[in-house]
Amino acid sequence: MQTESMRISLGKIVEQLGLNIERPKLFEQFGQQIDAIYGVLSMINVPIFAEYTLKMKEMCYKCSRSDSEKGRKKSLELMKAGVSFLGVLVEKISNPEELEKINFQVNLDLKKIERTTIQYFNNIKMGSIQYEEDTLSILIFEKKGGIKSTVEEAKKKYYPAPIFANAPGGYRKELARNNLKIAGIVIDTELSSNIWLSLIEQAHMFRPGVPILLINQDKDIFEEINKGKLNIQGVITRPKDFQKLIDIFKNKEGQAEIVSVEGKNVVDNAEEFIDVLAVNFTMGYSVPFSVYLRLDNGRHLKIVRRGDSIDEEQLLRHQSKGIAKYYVEKKEFNSYLDYCREEVSRIFSDSSLEINKRKNRFLEIAEETHNFLQTTKLGPEHLKVAEVFTEQSGNLIAELAKDNKNLKQFILDLEMQEHAVSVALMCGVLLKEIDAAGEIYNEISLAAFLHDIALINESSIVKSEDVRFMDENERAIFLGHPSKSAAVAKELGLKPAIVEAIAQHHMRLDDSGFPKLKKGTANKVNRIAELIGLAEDFLLLLKLSKEDNNIDPFAKMSYELSQKFSITIQKAYRKVFAI
Ligand SMILES: [Fe+2]
Ligand SMILES: [Fe+2]
Repeated sequence: MQTESMRISLGKIVEQLGLNIERPKLFEQFGQQIDAIYGVLSMINVPIFAEYTLKMKEMCYKCSRSDSEKGRKKSLELMKAGVSFLGVLVEKISNPEELEKINFQVNLDLKKIERTTIQYFNNIKMGSIQYEEDTLSILIFEKKGGIKSTVEEAKKKYYPAPIFANAPGGYRKELARNNLKIAGIVIDTELSSNIWLSLIEQAHMFRPGVPILLINQDKDIFEEINKGKLNIQGVITRPKDFQKLIDIFKNKEGQAEIVSVEGKNVVDNAEEFIDVLAVNFTMGYSVPFSVYLRLDNGRHLKIVRRGDSIDEEQLLRHQSKGIAKYYVEKKEFNSYLDYCREEVSRIFSDSSLEINKRKNRFLEIAEETHNFLQTTKLGPEHLKVAEVFTEQSGNLIAELAKDNKNLKQFILDLEMQEHAVSVALMCGVLLKEIDAAGEIYNEISLAAFLHDIALINESSIVKSEDVRFMDENERAIFLGHPSKSAAVAKELGLKPAIVEAIAQHHMRLDDSGFPKLKKGTANKVNRIAELIGLAEDFLLLLKLSKEDNNIDPFAKMSYELSQKFSITIQKAYRKVFAI
């Protein structure tokens, strides 16, 4: 059991502190590990234990910042008792009656912990929340679990612990968390390139100047990319331990490629600047843009030229003066971003690059939908067709994007791609049963991928196409997106059939969709539009079923199917899913 191994490791810390109590770092580590145990306990029904561990964490953190000898001794006593309580907990967890017997003792110690914290550490302003705010961390995006154990180990040993993300949404949330100080970013590239390239872009946007390392077991395939241009500090194989990772960061091998833009030493206009967190430059790498300090008179003084680095001493001096932000000229920052993006889109749209020769380059993006489909009654032959169709569709779009700036932006937007690939996958599943001739596969591909292209610059709420959360304004944008997307498709020079399919992808035969069917004409919706519409509706039902267990997406779809879609589509759907 996980808690048991944590308990053993806590026992070791207590032992070490028994030999020498003057080691504040060990109190910190204890607090950190007990925090992990709190995480586990708060999910099972042992409220007193959960609260006990929470208070213990606070005491340990504060103790690590205190000089009080008595406070330390008292804390150590309570920590020792904590280790034995956890032992009992592990042993009796399946026997609530037995566990109840020690509840009284635990509750008593909980009060002692509270008293100790107030008595000895009252002046320490390091409550759990403030402590979090003060962290300086390495952010790691790793999905396949290859270095998960390294990270888990590091979480126990290091403070601040590395932050771990394994989904693009979570990663972005960490990047946007203002109180999280990120000193370095590590991205696993053993995923399709549109995932990791997009993660790099987000890192540049949210955390300009923070060094980035890529992980890949095959470092050679990165020879084809311009790391300087991408502003990547290096490519490494999976590190054996976390310390090694930190050492690599400190090696400062990587140098950013410098874009030449003229700049002055003191600049007046405040509007032309954006702020960046000073901690972004902690690792001391060369900066790809000039960095300024904002003076009291509103002017900006250049402290580092593009290509140089901010040294640690300078950084500390500024920190001690309470300077948390630096400034970068907007114009220079934008050209730096554009420069990186050029390389990002070059890599992505060149399928001949070794780096892009992954078997499931696109399927990975729609992993959730793909996994779901594997659990359904869908036959393997339908799934196989869908997988091949999705990969081919993705490659077709990547090819088109080579010489189109808007498409380049579109294919690197993970949110849009996840939806586009999922829709393609759902269409692909039905292909075998709708008698679609091979030549219209390309039309379906293009329509499936580009059907929502007009939503690219809209908010996540509009992009989600879930009308429940939209305000009036967002709803209006949503209602207009089929015709706007069709206009974009027309501009791209796509065939009228595809343009029509995109324009009609929310139309339904019972007129519950939009735009409304034309009165007086035979009620007919473009067949490809129907395919996309079915995929769209089904994916939304799937989302709803995740929020509410009572919703069965198949039952609901089956009910809606006969009213909203043509017989051909209905038949195909029922045959594929054996309903
Ligand atoms: Fe859509
Ligand atoms: Fe749509």
